[in-house]
Amino acid sequence: MADFLSFTPPPLAFILCSVLLVSGTAASGAGTTELATQICRNTSSYAFCQEAMYSDPRAVGADRYLLAYIAYRQAYLNATETADYIASELKSGGASGSLRKCLGYYEEAIRRLAEMLGNLDSETFYGLDQLSIDVENSVRGCEASVGNSPSPSPLSKRNDDLIKLSNICLVVSKLYIYL
Ligand SMILES: *[C@@H]1O[C@H](CO)[C@@H](O)[C@H](O)[C@H]1NC(C)=O
Ligand SMILES: *[C@@H]1O[C@H](CO)[C@@H](O)[C@H](O)[C@H]1NC(C)=O
Repeated sequence: MADFLSFTPPPLAFILCSVLLVSGTAASGAGTTELATQICRNTSSYAFCQEAMYSDPRAVGADRYLLAYIAYRQAYLNATETADYIASELKSGGASGSLRKCLGYYEEAIRRLAEMLGNLDSETFYGLDQLSIDVENSVRGCEASVGNSPSPSPLSKRNDDLIKLSNICLVVSKLYIYL
């Protein structure tokens, strides 16, 4: 026993144990990817999704319910901010038929996102995927009416953001279909 101890003194054994422990942890960590990151891998724009989802610190380690809430809320806030922007453009004399149409499309998108948040609250998970698609289609309707005049429309970046956000909503919503 004394011979064994003199061969491998405690400090070396401790270091070996630590190295094994750390590499073991790293290996198991690589096998369990966060749900938010798994979701983002299924979206149209991984980097955009990661930034949007993790801008909410609650996304870390969150389950699908909380992630759905985060995604819908982000899209809802984005849509209301852009609707306010369109309304103020209309007020400041930029009145045009296409801008007015866009406001209608955004109001439609906001109603649907509010419905999605409400459904989540009441744990009504049916149809969340279709509502996500409807939101995206509303935004595409706006883009189709302003996209080319003037080119590119100052709304295009906002439309593009909300299209990507509604795609995140769709991917999260799909987690409620096959279960
Ligand atoms: C990602 O997509 C794959 C293939 O459609 C699906 O099996 C998987 O459940 C999805 N995962 C998430 C987290 O969306
Ligand atoms: C919409 O969300 C995106 C992604 O989080 C962000 O970059 C953008 O500034 C937001 N736009 C508005 C108008 O809220």
